[in-house]
Amino acid sequence: MKQIKKEKTGAARARDLVCGMDLSELADLAEVPYKGASFYFCGSGCAERFKSDPERFQKEPLIRLSNVWKVFKMGAVETQALRGVDLNVWEGDFISIIGASGSGKSTVLNMIGLLDRPTDGMVFFIRERMFLCSMTKKEPNSVQGYSVSCFSNII
Ligand SMILES: Nc1ncnc2c1ncn2[C@@H]1O[C@H](COP(=O)(O)OP(=O)(O)OP(=O)(O)O)[C@@H](O)[C@H]1O
Ligand SMILES: [Mg+2]
Repeated sequence: MKQIKKEKTGAARARDLVCGMDLSELADLAEVPYKGASFYFCGSGCAERFKSDPERFQKEPLIRLSNVWKVFKMGAVETQALRGVDLNVWEGDFISIIGASGSGKSTVLNMIGLLDRPTDGMVFFIRERMFLCSMTKKEPNSVQGYSVSCFSNII
């Protein structure tokens, strides 16, 4: 899984409306003009998807990860498993997360599946900012009707 090195804090960043990626450090963006404005994307895949339904991608995705960090601490050892992950998951999406062993695939799936909470950053489920603790304490039924399944032979 490719992660761009980022600082934990940051001003508002330009985002790819489809995949959610922070575009501020990417070159060769794909530009799509729409209703007199220019929209920028990480590549042709997201640009084409936006063109197919521009209004949809200006709304909120089903799940959104924004600058998500996960740091595991074991004694004096600290592992930065996720360093500022941005990701949009739209209803009906079928996604694959690919990366080397130890790159953080399982950790990010735990965030997407609301099984673990980030050290820093935000996880939104249908516009609600949500961590494991608030989900179980506040609105245990708010995710009914949706299932987040992780299919993998390597997680
Ligand atoms: N509970 C934990 N405590 C400490 N370190 C952890 C924990 N879970 C994951 N890590 C570390 O975080 C990093 C990312 O681990 P993760 O399991 O997310 O990788 P992965 O991409 O799923 O790897 P694999 O392909 O081997 O399943 C690794 O360095 C791992 O050792
Ligand atoms: Mg794994």
